[in-house]
Amino acid sequence: STDRLPFKVRAYDLLAAGKREEAQSLLDLGRKELTLAEDEMPGLMALRERHGAKKPLAGVKVMGSLHMTVQTAVLIETLTALGADVRWVSCNIFSTQDSAAVAVAVGPNGTLDDPQGIPVFAWKGETLPEYWWCTNEALVWPDGSGPDQIVDDGGDATMLIHKGVEYEAAGAVPAFDAENEPEEWGVILELLRDELVKNPGKWTAMAKAIRGVSEETTTGVARLYEMEKANKLLFPAINVNDCVTKAKFDNVYGCRHSLIDGINRASDVMMGGKVAVVCGFGDVGKGCCQSLRGQGCRVIVTEIDPICALQAAMEGYEVKTLEDVVGSADIFVTTTGNKDIINAQHMQQMKNGAIVGNIGHFDNEIDIAGLQKLQKSGEVERTNIKPQFDKFTFKSTGHSILMLAEGRLLNLGCATGHPSFVMSASFTNQTLAQLELWEKKDTGEYGNRVYVLPKHLDEEVARLHLNKLGVKLTTLTQSQADYIGVPVEGPYKSEHYRY
Ligand code: NAI
Repeated sequence: STDRLPFKVRAYDLLAAGKREEAQSLLDLGRKELTLAEDEMPGLMALRERHGAKKPLAGVKVMGSLHMTVQTAVLIETLTALGADVRWVSCNIFSTQDSAAVAVAVGPNGTLDDPQGIPVFAWKGETLPEYWWCTNEALVWPDGSGPDQIVDDGGDATMLIHKGVEYEAAGAVPAFDAENEPEEWGVILELLRDELVKNPGKWTAMAKAIRGVSEETTTGVARLYEMEKANKLLFPAINVNDCVTKAKFDNVYGCRHSLIDGINRASDVMMGGKVAVVCGFGDVGKGCCQSLRGQGCRVIVTEIDPICALQAAMEGYEVKTLEDVVGSADIFVTTTGNKDIINAQHMQQMKNGAIVGNIGHFDNEIDIAGLQKLQKSGEVERTNIKPQFDKFTFKSTGHSILMLAEGRLLNLGCATGHPSFVMSASFTNQTLAQLELWEKKDTGEYGNRVYVLPKHLDEEVARLHLNKLGVKLTTLTQSQADYIGVPVEGPYKSEHYRY
């Protein structure tokens, strides 16, 4: 049985079902993928070389909630190489690569029968109760204690702890309003209600011991700033997303790569000539537009922000409202980090075979709940084509739309997310943030607020990735440096510079 294991990944379920060869081949694949990825992740490997001997994170308990992919596996093994005691979950039910998960659980020197890696609780295709079970498991160490620090992506781990503390203080968990609240919220409330009885005081003690969180993505960062504003943040937070070497690279070039990868792997539709609508022209939207245009799509943008709308127009994209184009476009992608972008009525008006997907963090950009309601009433029929690719047929019109990854981030649901090189920049920032939080934990430098890393570290992260691309930097002369008013060795830009 897999119940006695200190982790839960797909390969060990296969093993328990007598499918040893399949389990072994997942493990072999994962380790080979990791080795290849290490070559493409120079920032992380440089940190291992720089800090590996001193082990600055020795014994630090780090809990991570971030897509359990091959690239994340290299991040995990970097934190481990720096001495950290790590536990991990994915931050999305579809984003785990089962090969990477087992490679991390077994570790570089272990075997299937003698796993020596770290406890990871993640597999591709979790249910929502399983997802929150995993998060809860990873937050508690075998001695009953919680983490010292968190690596979060989207803020689910941080949110769970904060809600736990709130309800412990109130002495009760509120009732679930199934009519008006999303199904997932019901799952979270049930877990917290259970914990309130079984482990009273657990979340308050856990929050007290946490020295900080480093947050990966736009949506998670937005949640943190909301908590900060309401004076509800219970520990320091570092906003990794807004490092220039994160948002202006991962969000843009990462999505440029992985958006079409997801659409292709799921649908294999010819994109050239088709009309694609991208909702949102922020960092992710900009990368998605480039990606679709590169395939020969005629790209239309929707925006609410006049600056981003003007940017899109100046890049040569048409800017319209969704209502203008909903009946004529072939591909729809939401990138807003906002809710209710494409609703069931929109999908009712789409062309037959229209492809609909979301690349923003949460699945509420597309009204899946509305589709499910129509399904219950008999107006919509769902046909599963393959995992993470479904056809929804409307009875009254006879047309169908094709939904990617059930409205969850399609680049991680239908493909394998961003490639290693760009994630190296993101995760080098994550590692620097973890080092910073631990190093400064007793200095009082970080209160219960949201911080960004200093610019010299951002430049350092970029510097670590130049060699791999054969980039040669020009060096300022002292007199040039004096003329523009910067040090020869940087930082080169002011805080208000926007890149
Ligand atoms: P952003 O804030 O730069 O861009 C979002 C844009 O959407 C903004 O320009 C905003 O004005 C626009 N927008 C908001 N409501 C809208 C509406 N109703 N209609 C049209 N446009 C609207 O944020 P960023 O960095 O582009 O991130 C977007 C989302 O993608 C976030 O949820 C983020 O967490 C997620 N993300 C996903 C990644 C992935 O690999 N799938 C990678 C990085 C970020």
